[in-house]
Amino acid sequence: MAGNYRSRISGTGSYLPEKVLTNFDLEKLVDTNHDWIVERTGIVRRHIAADDEAASDLAAKAAQRALLDAGLTAQDLDGIIFCTVTGDQSMPSSACCLQAKLGCRSIMAFDLSAACSGFVYGLSVADHFVRQGGFKNILVVGAEVIHRFVNYQDRETCILFGDGAGAWIVSQTSADDKNVIMSSHLHSEGGLGDLFVLGAGGSRLPLSQAVLDQKSQFVKMKGREIYKNAVRTMSSCCDEALEANQVKINSVDWLIPHQANLRIMEAVADHFGFPKEKVIVAVHETGNTSAASIPTAFQIGRESGKIKRGDLILLTAFGAGLTAGSLLLRY
Ligand code: ACO
Repeated sequence: MAGNYRSRISGTGSYLPEKVLTNFDLEKLVDTNHDWIVERTGIVRRHIAADDEAASDLAAKAAQRALLDAGLTAQDLDGIIFCTVTGDQSMPSSACCLQAKLGCRSIMAFDLSAACSGFVYGLSVADHFVRQGGFKNILVVGAEVIHRFVNYQDRETCILFGDGAGAWIVSQTSADDKNVIMSSHLHSEGGLGDLFVLGAGGSRLPLSQAVLDQKSQFVKMKGREIYKNAVRTMSSCCDEALEANQVKINSVDWLIPHQANLRIMEAVADHFGFPKEKVIVAVHETGNTSAASIPTAFQIGRESGKIKRGDLILLTAFGAGLTAGSLLLRY
């Protein structure tokens, strides 16, 4: 019956492709340098998918690790929510590709497009399904092969992005379980959509020779405006989560913001007086992996021994759209 269930995170996993692109590699492609990139973004390296790897290939590896961690098999899954803006193709969905790759039963599987906020959106949707009953285990995966949509002649964007995948299993638990998703808050401001755009390849601007000549198949970004909006929206989403749960800031064990830029993460922590040593940072290793960034950062935090069962964790993200959100959980 609706209302008798809550969602717990029963397993997590991630996958970063083997190939690494360092700041020094980028120095050979555009007019930039390692020190500038580290000082302005905190990024040192990022991982790049192999030529034969698409988003669902990365996702399958992360999902298998999450299933193993949960002690489940693909047969136990009741649904797949695949958060991505760089899916294998428009159709079939990457979620359906993943359903086949994992060998799942005939379950619900769909893609969710909310750019870098995708994973927080996906967890929120899964939580609502689980709470309603009828879904015991939903795989939420964030996976991106964003480097294929980046212009490696544009120094303002090519330094930022990397590929990767992260997966969590959202499982049904009883209403009195303490280790649950506590709340989620999701937002969008479509009027600011032109700040970060991947314009070509859809019904408005189908691929053509003219599109390729203008390089419209690549992301275009107004970096400074994105920066300001990222700090504003992630800070307010964090405030919203704490207020809704009547949770004091010093009770939160870890803040995991979307990993776009170290300075953005530090500004969000400053905004609401959150200690920087309790912010999980992985951007130096991954760059911005869009919907994969929060689960890959979580995994790095967990595997380093920082994040433990029972910790109170605040996730917050912003992304193209503009989208934004926060989610508070006890892990
Ligand atoms: N290397 C060296 N110099 C550079 C580079 C580079 N890669 N890129 C820009 N510069 C130069 C600029 O041309 C400018 O030069 P000028 O002063 O002579 O005009 C100077 O560096 C400063 O440029 P700013 O844009 O002011 O630099 P800023 O400190 O704002 O950093 C950055 C730029 C890193 C892009 C920052 O604005 C940022 O991180 N913004 C958010 C980006 C983001 O998160 N995008 C994704 C959002 S949506 C999603 O996550 C999917």
